[in-house]
Amino acid sequence: MRLKDKVAIITGAGQGIGEGIAMRFAREGAKVVLVDVNESQIKQVEQNIKADNGIALAIVGDVTSQEAMKDLVEQVVKEFGTIDILINNAGITRDALLHKMSEDKWDMVINVNLKGTFNLCQAVAPIMREKGYGKIVNISSAARMGNVGQTNYSASKAGVVGLTRALCKELAPKQINVNAVAPGFIETEMSKKVPEDILKALIKNIPMLRQGTIDEIAGTCVFLASDEAAFINGQVIHVDGGRFMF
Ligand SMILES: NC(=O)c1ccc[n+]([C@@H]2O[C@H](COP(=O)([O-])OP(=O)(O)OC[C@H]3O[C@@H](n4cnc5c(N)ncnc54)[C@H](O)[C@@H]3O)[C@@H](O)[C@H]2O)c1
Repeated sequence: MRLKDKVAIITGAGQGIGEGIAMRFAREGAKVVLVDVNESQIKQVEQNIKADNGIALAIVGDVTSQEAMKDLVEQVVKEFGTIDILINNAGITRDALLHKMSEDKWDMVINVNLKGTFNLCQAVAPIMREKGYGKIVNISSAARMGNVGQTNYSASKAGVVGLTRALCKELAPKQINVNAVAPGFIETEMSKKVPEDILKALIKNIPMLRQGTIDEIAGTCVFLASDEAAFINGQVIHVDGGRFMF
């Protein structure tokens, strides 16, 4: 077990990639705190982890609220004594071409994806600083490179990278790792709804000629959150089948 007894907060753990990360972390021995706005879904994930002999605590919470995230971190420390790992995974899309991009769509995406990441980093940092240990993994996206119809989403995910790099410089002297994972095209409920001809065209642009799996993102997060990755800091790992190379 690579994360034995580590306390890990995972946001957006109610479904998709966040759920996959939570399940995998629990199997690696972590005590996982599931955060999501969707109560019924995180309760279900909590039950599934417990049925698999894992340790999980579901807390309903909106990452856009700075105050709620501070309270949540206090609650986690009361329950488990500390926080070792934070995975900022909660994210949304509200796509539109620029001329149709409402202020509301812009604000919602920036608030959840970027401010939500900031809120949790700020809330956990004092605990990690004090113990001189911590792992933060922020979920960015290949869309940080720029996608049509996603000025809000691409800006938020590029912002997550900027935040990751700046925070790495602030926290690295305290032996805290802050990295980002940028998934490419991943097989989720959402991608199953993409029409077949569009799916084929998208896959043609991926050197590995296939979509990635949730477990391939979860595995990268396990690695970055483990001590095997102790000297990797401020990096963006693209998990995208070779789509972007730097
Ligand atoms: N699916 C992909 O192909 C893909 C590719 C690149 C990046 N990503 C990123 O990976 C992450 C997960 O994506 P997914 O496909 O699993 O998404 P998803 O929509 O399946 O799941 C996101 C989860 O976040 C929760 N959430 C939304 N707003 C929240 C809030 N304000 N506070 C707390 N929880 C909230 C939702 O309830 C949901 O359970 C996102 O950050 C996304 O941008 C996904």
